[in-house]
Amino acid sequence: QEPCYILAVETSCDETAVAVVKDGREVLSNLISSQIETHKAFGGVVPEVASRKHVESITYMLEEAVEKSGITHDQLSAVAVTQGPGLVGALLVGIVAAKTLAMAWDKPLIGTHHIAGHIYANRLVQEIEYPSLALVVSGGHTELVLLEAEGQFKVIGATRDDAVGEAYDKVARALGFPYPGGPHVDKMALESEEAVQLPRVWLEPDSYDFSLSGLKSAVLNVVNQTSMRGENLNKGAVARGFQESVIEVLVEKAVRAMREFGCRQLLLCGGVAANRGLRAALKERCERENLPLLIPPHHYCTDNAAMIGAAAYLKWKQSEFTDLDMKAEPGLSL
Ligand code: KG4
Ligand code: ZN
Repeated sequence: QEPCYILAVETSCDETAVAVVKDGREVLSNLISSQIETHKAFGGVVPEVASRKHVESITYMLEEAVEKSGITHDQLSAVAVTQGPGLVGALLVGIVAAKTLAMAWDKPLIGTHHIAGHIYANRLVQEIEYPSLALVVSGGHTELVLLEAEGQFKVIGATRDDAVGEAYDKVARALGFPYPGGPHVDKMALESEEAVQLPRVWLEPDSYDFSLSGLKSAVLNVVNQTSMRGENLNKGAVARGFQESVIEVLVEKAVRAMREFGCRQLLLCGGVAANRGLRAALKERCERENLPLLIPPHHYCTDNAAMIGAAAYLKWKQSEFTDLDMKAEPGLSL
């Protein structure tokens, strides 16, 4: 069979990313331009600024990604792009670029779901076995997704308020760390001997949903009360208490779902998969219970375009192409 080469574009948030992926698993080129330094000054991602930055860099990156891949554009099988969810103005930049190339080069267009990308990032590392369970934890998402077969997604649980990464960033901010604060909280938590006792939010006994806003408020209360009493805040103890609470609930619900649905693998996906505490806890628990765990390397966990190429490959195999009048879908569901 002819090899499949997909040019993939991802601009749903604050990374401009372009990649060329062969057969949904071999990454020929993978470029990422992060806007973090720009958004840091604002303490978070400013949508309008994100769109403008994507416009500045996308064309050069497209050119470079094809050049670095070692193939020519006429060898491409399709052009894939994140259709949603994400910031609408940011998505549109990637979508317009991808449509234009698809039209100019006469290639099929493949609109791709951002979370399908995060999940199929695992396929860049290892073959996925079904049924599988994906724990998606990022700045915008917290979901447990059951994959009964290839490309068949069933969201069995999701956050009812804040995403895990979002909660990390808010807690980090309260502790005085710059955006994105997740990695700082992770580091402080691991270095601290002490932990503040914070609640675990389980919701209904049979629910796979999550809720993080109560925990976040509990952290903010500790921070405010300490400051009102004029005492010194033990930041490490707060970070560790928060991290322990988040991890315990994530691990417990993931393992319970693995059992209930007889899943053969647990796939950890999204930017928060970089969290060392979460990785260690999942590894330990999965080893103890003999459950196979897949965690992609860090650069495939955070937003990137290689993962979009991996997910788009599934659609390419089914000749599931997208019309050139495709719209950005900021709230696209899986
Ligand atoms: O997947 P991602 O790159 O972008 C989204 O699609 O949201 O995830 C970024 C999120 C940020 O909230 C960041 O603080 C969080 O992942 N993050 C972490 C860690 N590294 C990144 N959160 C906790 N611990 C970490 N080590
Ligand atoms: Zn993401």
